[in-house]
Amino acid sequence: MSQEKIRRGLRAGYNRPPMLWLKALHVSFVVTWFAGLFYLPRLFVYHADCRDAPGLERFVVMERRLFFIMSLGALLAMLFGLSMIVQAPQYLGLGWMRAKLLLVALLFAYHYGCWRLMLALRAGRARPARWYRIYNEVPALLLLAIVILAVVKPGD
Ligand code: HEM
Repeated sequence: MSQEKIRRGLRAGYNRPPMLWLKALHVSFVVTWFAGLFYLPRLFVYHADCRDAPGLERFVVMERRLFFIMSLGALLAMLFGLSMIVQAPQYLGLGWMRAKLLLVALLFAYHYGCWRLMLALRAGRARPARWYRIYNEVPALLLLAIVILAVVKPGD
């Protein structure tokens, strides 16, 4: 199917109610997901510098709870995103959507990395606090790139 045909078909469905509801829920859960992606590595920075036993225990609990909530956000954001693609599979023919999904895959890799780092910290294997500070910058870059692709839809 030609790109123009795909776009025309999609535009007809963009602003119809099921799509708008799915999109509203999708964006809401993306926000929940990112709250965790931004704050969990920040907790790692403080955790790495913590020396007292009660403080360490508190970080372990805070990190576990935050990781659970952000994973739920990721799962629901993905389910609502995929349900839009099921409604309109033509999305997969568009360059910006393919690029977006590629970056989303990197975001899931980052999420998995957070889980590995959380387990290592729990086992007492901390990296230098500065390392976590740099790791913490990655989701901001991915967020910017993904939102530009999703909203500007370059080439559309
Ligand atoms: C988890 C996998 C994801 C899938 C399958 C997915 C899929 C989709 C789909 C099909 C749309 C509708 C596109 C449109 O008609 O405008 C959409 C919209 C959107 N997505 Fe995602 N997405 C995912 C993750 C993300 C992430 C991680 C972000 C942010 C970093 C994001 C941000 C947005 C935004 C802001 C919109 C609204 C765009 C607009 O209305 O202009 N999505 N997504």
